[in-house]
Amino acid sequence: MGVLYRWFGRPLLRLQDSERAHLRSLKLLRFLSNNPLSRTMLKMAYKPRKSVEVEVFGQRYKHPFGLAAGMDKNAVSLRGWETTGLGFIEIGGVTQHKQDGNTKPRMFRADKTQALVNRMGFNNQGSQQISENLLKHFKKYGSPSVPLWVNLGKSKATPLEDAHTDYATTMKLLWPFTDVFVVNVSSPNTPNLRELQKDEGLIKILDACHQVNTELDTEGSGKPILVKVAPDLTDEQLEHFVHTSRSNGASGIVLSNTTLVRPQGKNSKEVKVFEETGGLSGRPLFDRSTEMIRIVNRLTDGEWPIVGVGGIMSADDAWEKINAGATLLQAYSGFVFEGPSLTKTVVNGLHRKLRDHGYSTLIDAVGKDADSP
Ligand SMILES: Cc1cc2nc3c(=O)[nH]c(=O)nc-3n(C[C@H](O)[C@H](O)[C@H](O)COP(=O)(O)O)c2cc1C
Repeated sequence: MGVLYRWFGRPLLRLQDSERAHLRSLKLLRFLSNNPLSRTMLKMAYKPRKSVEVEVFGQRYKHPFGLAAGMDKNAVSLRGWETTGLGFIEIGGVTQHKQDGNTKPRMFRADKTQALVNRMGFNNQGSQQISENLLKHFKKYGSPSVPLWVNLGKSKATPLEDAHTDYATTMKLLWPFTDVFVVNVSSPNTPNLRELQKDEGLIKILDACHQVNTELDTEGSGKPILVKVAPDLTDEQLEHFVHTSRSNGASGIVLSNTTLVRPQGKNSKEVKVFEETGGLSGRPLFDRSTEMIRIVNRLTDGEWPIVGVGGIMSADDAWEKINAGATLLQAYSGFVFEGPSLTKTVVNGLHRKLRDHGYSTLIDAVGKDADSP
């Protein structure tokens, strides 16, 4: 199926505008996963047969490979992601208010380099509508069989000083449906959002989110709240961010969001793509986002869960991030360039690597190379 996608699916998608191709793929996935026959075929083609179990945040994951934020902003194809075998699904970024995002075109592909540039700007239906989408889904199909995460963003219209209310309102509305919250203060496409990576804004947001946990989970200790950071921070800024997030109760970190740094284009089309404003994802992001995993693993003695995302295109990439210190992994661009078979490739590959190294669980491999330069 990977070969089929490479020969037929990808060339067809290449002929289309990137965002239109993305929306068509989402609709197709939703359609195929709702029909019993095509759902069975999807499962047979894409769902990994092996499991690589891991327990994080007191939750069980059948394997560590999940869908990164941005792919299904409005939670419209949950069954599709489950059917193709993802280990967990992150929806969003969701903002308190509905918003259209930036003007189109706003998503660009550099096929040779396997990179994307996007300046979507948190286009999403808003927290109220998305909570209704989830309610409808849960009533019809029950809760998903894999953990559901939500990426929390800030509405463009909300001033920075009120950001904490925006994040907390969305969290409250989506609380009944989700297992993990990711505070995204690192998207480059909402003006000044990255300012919230600094102490004052970050602490206010984390406090407001903990408040929601306290209000809604009177018996337990609340749901995990993670933070997602930009790869463009210096190592010193990253260290400070980790310290602030951890001491203010964040349960882990997602490394990383897209970058403002650009590689060399391999042809004139790519040069143009890399001149576009926005965040870059895919293969060129791999090294920096993996290096950040090593840094945070060392800083926290491997005791603070890290989610590795950025440029995963193969099982070798996934293994490198695990060895650097990631316990869970995600991808977005990899699905665009390698197709839905990426999940099977990664999970079966990880299973094989664990066996070849004589490890009995994934946790044995986490952070094994964190001390390498
Ligand atoms: C079109 C697009 C939209 C994205 N939207 C979000 C978002 O809403 N929130 C977020 O935290 N990350 C968002 N991301 C970043 C991804 O979740 C991920 O961190 C990044 O793309 C690096 O992973 P990759 O190299 O596997 O794509 C988006 C990425 C892309 C390409």
